[in-house]
Amino acid sequence: MFQTLKPLPTDPILGLMAAFKNDPNPKKIDLGVGVYKDEAGNTPVLKCVKKAEAFRLANETSKSYIGLAGDEGYNQKIKELLFGAHEIIAQNRARTTQTPGGTGALRVGAEFLKRCNNAATIWVSAPTWANHIALFEASGLNVKEYPYYDYDKRGLLFDDMMSALSQVKSGDIVLLHACCHNPSGMDLTQEQWHKVADLAVENGFTPMIDIAYQGFGSGLDDDAAGLRIMADKVDEMVICSSCSKNFGLYRERLGACTVVGKDSASADIAYSVVLSVVRGIYSMPPHHGAAIVNTILHSVELRAMWEAELAQKRDRINGLRKLIVEKLGAAGISQDFSFIQRQHGMFSFFGIAGEQIEQLKNDYGIYMVGSSRMNVAGISNSNIDYFAASVATVLKG
Ligand code: LMR
Repeated sequence: MFQTLKPLPTDPILGLMAAFKNDPNPKKIDLGVGVYKDEAGNTPVLKCVKKAEAFRLANETSKSYIGLAGDEGYNQKIKELLFGAHEIIAQNRARTTQTPGGTGALRVGAEFLKRCNNAATIWVSAPTWANHIALFEASGLNVKEYPYYDYDKRGLLFDDMMSALSQVKSGDIVLLHACCHNPSGMDLTQEQWHKVADLAVENGFTPMIDIAYQGFGSGLDDDAAGLRIMADKVDEMVICSSCSKNFGLYRERLGACTVVGKDSASADIAYSVVLSVVRGIYSMPPHHGAAIVNTILHSVELRAMWEAELAQKRDRINGLRKLIVEKLGAAGISQDFSFIQRQHGMFSFFGIAGEQIEQLKNDYGIYMVGSSRMNVAGISNSNIDYFAASVATVLKG
């Protein structure tokens, strides 16, 4: 049976991660996969996570099944992180389910939406995270794109986006990135969120919000401002969140799928369908990561420690954005890279040609995704000069 299969290409992001690992170049720089790195190029376990793990080791009493929705204490805290003091919490209109990673949340959310409307189309930004389209298609949704990023002007195509979304009908879904747009780093302003939310109300489409980088852009509340604007206006939405980046729990696979209903009773019905989707895919999520986050977010001391560690990452990323622009200028490159400083989160499109990306990889061991998406957190004070000099040489051709 297997002989009918044809080999498939490796994933554009994860394949690059493997290629980087195997590269013997001592000067190599990984600007590929979206993993935060510190100044030394490491991705250490957060101190608050270590403390929560020690607590868990001492206090865990059972390895019995956790249940379809996962850790309820975790789910409650994730809801609070997403909505803050928003009235949705008091109105009891949101139901959160722990999932295996943000990707698991997207899959559960997509299959839930497919159950709501078997013929649904999901509209995603052009471009979007490389895995979104494959994931939604595998969930049985039709996928279409709306214009988003202007590769020439290195900004948003907001008017084009609005005109495409004005064609989206009731029963369809629009995927929006809450913050730190992956891959472009270009986020909607609050004013633009209001316009998209008004359109969602007018046309009746359902927003699905992917929030994988809460805390990496401007702060925990600021990064959720767009989704809270949406929550002010629409009756129903789906939110997919991740703890990979902001808690550094990449390999624990921890995320959440939150459904918002027009009232508590309809949220209960939606939740029952979400749980049935979960049962049909993986039955129940693993517990370790959720137990860690539950412990951190229920402890005043550990929460303060987490927020400080998260702020440190955010400040480092924003500092690197400034440094990259300065150093590329100082290396004598005439091309304008100032857009890097106007963007948010770990990613920006560097905006160089495919052969230049290949040359950076092959001749200098500098890895970025083939679209020219770079993870700015891979830059450090010790490799920035090598990076700028290599780019200068490659751009001179
Ligand atoms: C990325 O965009 O690089 C990360 O979200 C990792 C992944 O799974 O693609």
